[in-house]
Amino acid sequence: MKNLFDLSGKTAVAIGGNGVLGSSMAIGLADHGAKVAIVGRNLEKAEEVVKEIEAAGGQAKAFTADVSSKESLLKAADEIEKWSGGWDILLNAPGTNSATPFFELDMEEYDKIMDINLKGIVMTCQIFAKRMIEQERKGSIINISSVSSTTPLSRVFTYSVSKAGLNSVTQFLAREFAENGIRVNAIIPGFFPAEQNRKILDKDRIDSIMRHTPMQRFGESEELQGATVFLASDKASSFVTGALLRVDGGFGAMTI
Ligand SMILES: NC(=O)c1ccc[n+]([C@@H]2O[C@H](COP(=O)([O-])OP(=O)(O)OC[C@H]3O[C@@H](n4cnc5c(N)ncnc54)[C@H](O)[C@@H]3O)[C@@H](O)[C@H]2O)c1
Repeated sequence: MKNLFDLSGKTAVAIGGNGVLGSSMAIGLADHGAKVAIVGRNLEKAEEVVKEIEAAGGQAKAFTADVSSKESLLKAADEIEKWSGGWDILLNAPGTNSATPFFELDMEEYDKIMDINLKGIVMTCQIFAKRMIEQERKGSIINISSVSSTTPLSRVFTYSVSKAGLNSVTQFLAREFAENGIRVNAIIPGFFPAEQNRKILDKDRIDSIMRHTPMQRFGESEELQGATVFLASDKASSFVTGALLRVDGGFGAMTI
């Protein structure tokens, strides 16, 4: 049981691996030996992450996919399979968010958020997990949830609903795929300044987040690497599936 966190010989697919949190998690996987497909809507941003991984001596390649399109996901899966032969780890990190008072909810915006945060991850799991099962690859799927998934956050109704659904997807698939040796878990990050929440983090919001975070600070994206590598490693987390792992500075443990 030495080298519990060694991922050499493994291939990871990091969907949304070009985002702020997704790229840090993907870099964590590469630093521990995994070869990583960085998949984003924006190829240039994905290529920047690849360059960073390669500069540190790791192996990665950039691909594009839009998780709201099944065709696009299938195309990416074909390209990644050609490159790597298959994958053992699937990291689902795409996400979008916007603040809307409930009665002003625009249903197009509702659909957009649900299409990416929930339906997009369901389609990604259908396509990418199916190939793992067909190839009889045991492995790990890691979804990125949110503190709003268990206790809803003010202002972000649709986002909270989508992430609550994602927890359910995670636990459903944990049951479903256990017999195939595929573990499915989610990370619940607390608050990490990034692109998708920049518009929502005004001063009042930041004050109330700090009042509810015992550690009294935002997270740094690198602080998600430990949980990611732990859940990816079939040595470190071999009996862990269906878990919702909080990395939130204590936010979820806070009352008054
Ligand atoms: N930043 C936080 O505080 C925080 C907290 C909890 C959960 N999260 C979750 O972490 C994940 C990463 O978010 P982030 O904060 O790094 O934001 P980010 O905006 O930097 O990253 C989001 C990523 O999702 C990708 N994406 C969006 N729509 C997509 C689509 N249709 N197809 C493919 N990719 C798409 C973006 O290109 C980007 O790479 C998201 O699921 C988010 O909900 C973030």
